[in-house]
Amino acid sequence: MTRSIERTVAVGEDTERVDGRAKVAGRAPYAYEHAVERPLYAHPIQATIAAGRVRDMVTERALALEGVQAVLTPDNAPRLRTGQDAELEILQDSGVAFRGQLIGCVVADTPEIARHAADLVEVDYERAEHDVAFPRERSGLYRPDVVNPSYETDTDDGDVGTALASAEVRLDAEYRTARNHNNPLEPHTTVAVWDADGLTLHDSTQGVHSMRSVVAGLFDLEESQIRVLAPYVGGGFGSKGTAHAHVVLAALAAKRMAGRPVKLALTRQQMFTLTGYRTPTVQRIALGADRDGRIDALVVDVEEQTSRIKEFAEQTGVPSRTMYAAPNRRTSHRLAALDVPVPSWMRAPGVCPGMFGPEVAMDELAERCGLDPIELRLRNEPERDPETGKPYSSRNLAECLRVGARRFGWENRPAAPRQTRKGEWWIGTGVASSTYPVHHSPGSAARIERGTDGRYHVSIGAVDIGTGAWTVLGQIAADALGVPAEDVVVTVGDTNLPFASVAGGSSGTANWGSAVVAAAQGFRARFGDDDPPAGSEHTEAAPENPDTERFAMHAFGAQFAEVHVSADTGEIRVPRLLGVFAAGRIVNPRLGRSQLLGGMTMGLSMALHEDGVMDERLGMVVNHDLAEYHVATNADVPSVAAEWLDEHDPHVNAMGTKGIGEIGIVGTAAAIANAAYHATGVRVREFPVTADRFLTG
Ligand code: MOS
Repeated sequence: MTRSIERTVAVGEDTERVDGRAKVAGRAPYAYEHAVERPLYAHPIQATIAAGRVRDMVTERALALEGVQAVLTPDNAPRLRTGQDAELEILQDSGVAFRGQLIGCVVADTPEIARHAADLVEVDYERAEHDVAFPRERSGLYRPDVVNPSYETDTDDGDVGTALASAEVRLDAEYRTARNHNNPLEPHTTVAVWDADGLTLHDSTQGVHSMRSVVAGLFDLEESQIRVLAPYVGGGFGSKGTAHAHVVLAALAAKRMAGRPVKLALTRQQMFTLTGYRTPTVQRIALGADRDGRIDALVVDVEEQTSRIKEFAEQTGVPSRTMYAAPNRRTSHRLAALDVPVPSWMRAPGVCPGMFGPEVAMDELAERCGLDPIELRLRNEPERDPETGKPYSSRNLAECLRVGARRFGWENRPAAPRQTRKGEWWIGTGVASSTYPVHHSPGSAARIERGTDGRYHVSIGAVDIGTGAWTVLGQIAADALGVPAEDVVVTVGDTNLPFASVAGGSSGTANWGSAVVAAAQGFRARFGDDDPPAGSEHTEAAPENPDTERFAMHAFGAQFAEVHVSADTGEIRVPRLLGVFAAGRIVNPRLGRSQLLGGMTMGLSMALHEDGVMDERLGMVVNHDLAEYHVATNADVPSVAAEWLDEHDPHVNAMGTKGIGEIGIVGTAAAIANAAYHATGVRVREFPVTADRFLTG
């Protein structure tokens, strides 16, 4: 294993991001802005039925429009290799699996002409009955083989039935989360160029190498014939972590237009259908405890949806498996396969929705046991990971709760709900735990080269989606090489650079940083510590870390919310959020804080606003834009603060980092729901927490 970095001069420095100035000055070319010769523009044609097939597409009027170069349909589109991924294998047959599915595209001289012409294509459908209703009867659900990405679907330890029956305190309740949509600032865009050498994609993606491998499979190309570039990406949250059909559409169009580059930018509305979304969930939770609050039985049964053509099973029951000590535990996942778009990753898949029901249930259990909700959590701290029996590499949830309670001013909190009112407003506070696993993906590699400029050039095919990865990799390299940070230049975002895992699972810094440290140490071993000649070069992959087998590795946190609810209207406001995290070493406080604040803000958004509303007659989400699908903006978020413990974990990797991209969103929404109860005495078990939920109370 690589030696850990002992000299941490650059690591821990609060520096600005290396790409920051280019971005704010408008000099950072995002995928769509990449300059190409004589570009053409593609606009998608989407199905307007939710199930059935396309009988005929009449393209004459579209083709007659000046500036239209081609109309691709299932009849004339280039062929793909099929049978692997029905979401991506578009225009290969006439079937329609959900409303909004791609059934064609117009290629034209300008985006405006392409969009206009797409409207002129007349589509004749053979309609079938569609089924998009969720939630539904459990009998209409099926059991997936695994849940994302490869966790066991169901677990059953001990004897939950007996333990629940004999528990002194019992809780049995149902919790629901809404359908949530990823809305990164930069929409999904692709520029595809097909020439004699193969295919080049300038793509807004979280992983250039993973994208290349998927596209190679579909188009029957060698990976060496494809280059994917993504130097600047304006957010992703997981929606750019896997390939979606629009990338294939752009590549199909470019293949058809051989030699002419094709640019495709999804509209905000199209993103609601084509880029994945977070499934709604139903969580049936049972807890059994003794009067002192020690949990003996825990049940989390999850129901959620997937698309009929491709399974995505959100791992909502998984965080409960490791969160608290409970000798008897059962978790399960069941899915409804519907005529809906394909759900996928959204910031902390599984963990984010899966820490809502259980963390509200903990609040309810605390009340029944007459305990403070922090004390209840402390009493259920496990010695070892309850799921695997392994020791934790480090687990500092208790310290996060204690430090957070002090900072937030928890000690004067009234135990009972509905105690504090100022004028129109009921005021309450709530707490919830956060967690996120430390994911490792093998294989990332980095190259270090001494340049003629005397600086050390670090190359890795990583993608900085706005997280600050570009910057922190330079800090890590500087310490591993033993040089000042300004002597390091990092290049990312290109399949021509050494392989890098996808920017997902909060694992970028861990995986890529491990590769950078390995390459730097290998470089020093080969060329010595002093002034190696220009051109000295070394490439090395991150080593295996045997500790990942020996320890359970998770980051933890505690989130606190203050909530005001209007006695007159039920309007809910969140004037204050505080998160305290234990996520290993924080490489750059400024960028780390930004990740955590962003996650918490997104959690607030989930709690109060985000709700994709399915019109079951049409089979579509009707509020598919930012006017009607509300995401939190500045006025919704008066004060969010994030802090962290100085946690040293020698087991996770050479840097001691655990990952911070996702944990910020985990637990926020439960803390807000718990605070809303404390303010009003009305228990809301369903997101979003809107004004009408308080009317019954
Ligand atoms: Mo994140 S949902 O793993 O990109």
